[in-house]
Amino acid sequence: MKRILFATGNAHKLGEIKAILSDIGLDVVSMGEAGVDAEIVEDGKSFEENALIKARAVSKASGEPALADDSGLVVDALCGEPGIYSSRWMGEDTSYHVKNTEILRRLEGLPDEKRTARFVCVCACVFPDGREYTAEGVFEGMIGYEEKGGNGFGYDPIFYVPEKGRYSAELAPEEKNAISHRGKALRAMREILRDAKEVGEA
Ligand code: IMP
Repeated sequence: MKRILFATGNAHKLGEIKAILSDIGLDVVSMGEAGVDAEIVEDGKSFEENALIKARAVSKASGEPALADDSGLVVDALCGEPGIYSSRWMGEDTSYHVKNTEILRRLEGLPDEKRTARFVCVCACVFPDGREYTAEGVFEGMIGYEEKGGNGFGYDPIFYVPEKGRYSAELAPEEKNAISHRGKALRAMREILRDAKEVGEA
């Protein structure tokens, strides 16, 4: 396999996955770069279903292998919210400062042990012949007591990473990629694709 399409319009994600897959000789191309237009309705009930929906749509529209990921923040004290609705939670156009402030408010008064949370990412790869692979990555942490740090995006400023003693938004990009849900899922997918490539499947 020489190239694989990635179902995203997000330049940040594209750069990350290009870097992770470059060493196995795979050229990752975005839908835009490939001139592929697929209508994607993300109505799955899990990260895995949504990642597969996106990858299937792009593979079907292009006739080529396609990769997609789906991710979100799971907060135990909020019964798993915002979960698969992370980007839409409180409204697509609501700022993350507002969303983060609301999560901090809802967890007010809760002790450390009740503030557990994790970022989850599922990466899916779909081939035109119907083969499908998925890989999951989990980034464990807790909801902190304030917003902190200027790196990252989304919920990073309230996500405290005990093993680093800092908030996710305080981590340098390489430091976060090494332990993050997306980094783990993409590296697991890299192993799957490397094997597929070696046996001449992909
Ligand atoms: P999607 O995977 O592009 O559908 O969006 C996932 C959503 O989950 C993002 O829009 C963020 O709200 C949240 N999210 C996923 N990964 C991260 C992360 O690494 N940091 C902060 N927020 C994240």
